[in-house]
Amino acid sequence: MSDPDGPGQIADRLAGVALPRHVAIIMDGNGRWAQRHGRPRHAGHRAGVTAVRSVVEACGRLGLEALTLFAFSSENWRRPAGEVRVLMELFRTTLDQELHRLHEQGVRLRFIGDRTPLEPALQRRLDDAEALTAGNGGLELVIATNYGGRWEMAAAARRLAAAAARGEIDPEAIDEQAIQGALCLPGLCDPDLFIRTGGEQRLSNFLIWQLAYAELYFTDTPWPDFGAEQLARAIEAYSGRERRFGGVQPSVLGAAGGA
Ligand code: FPP
Repeated sequence: MSDPDGPGQIADRLAGVALPRHVAIIMDGNGRWAQRHGRPRHAGHRAGVTAVRSVVEACGRLGLEALTLFAFSSENWRRPAGEVRVLMELFRTTLDQELHRLHEQGVRLRFIGDRTPLEPALQRRLDDAEALTAGNGGLELVIATNYGGRWEMAAAARRLAAAAARGEIDPEAIDEQAIQGALCLPGLCDPDLFIRTGGEQRLSNFLIWQLAYAELYFTDTPWPDFGAEQLARAIEAYSGRERRFGGVQPSVLGAAGGA
């Protein structure tokens, strides 16, 4: 029997709802989920992979442009070595298992973050997955691995400073567009909807430039329990928000133009 709240049903449920183009998610709560089930933390991360699969499929069915997932932050190296090892192994095996299905679904995979400290075998997998799916026109799936928003902005500043030192750009010409162009994914639209699972309400150095005007949605649901149903709820909440981007709602301006 098909799951009435599964990825297959989400497009019907959200028919007529204003959809975000780009959703960004901090997948938090794996460890606490595992603890609540009397299992080791790595069991929570493994269960988290099932949630990733379900949410990626749902986003694809909705025809969203992009989904960015925070898989490993530059601060996550502070975790016990065994947990870091399990996470790295999980990224590698998940990629091995899922890549061809994602490719068939037309997903374009991108990875952001500093790859240099990752194991060479994992780095190769990331490069190969990007190369294989580069021509796909479906969902853009961005996985942030060893990523930090401040790292990204510092790298962008270095790139721009080097170009200025070479005389390629005028420092006076460095504007918001130039910075955007020096970030990890210059062509991608900013996230419209940010979701954090697991009950915490902070950005944790995730896409701090790109989230400037995102609608924020926090849920206590731990990531392993998040799926198409919870994604639909988040999108419904998003569709009820009024986005003004610093402007004013036209109705409050009134007939006289609200001066
Ligand atoms: C945060 O939960 C979660 C992570 C640091 C890892 C996220 C990784 C996955 C969901 C696994 C697979 C991902 C991909 C893209 C293949 P936490 O451990 O901080 O939870 P806690 O706050 O309850 O301790």
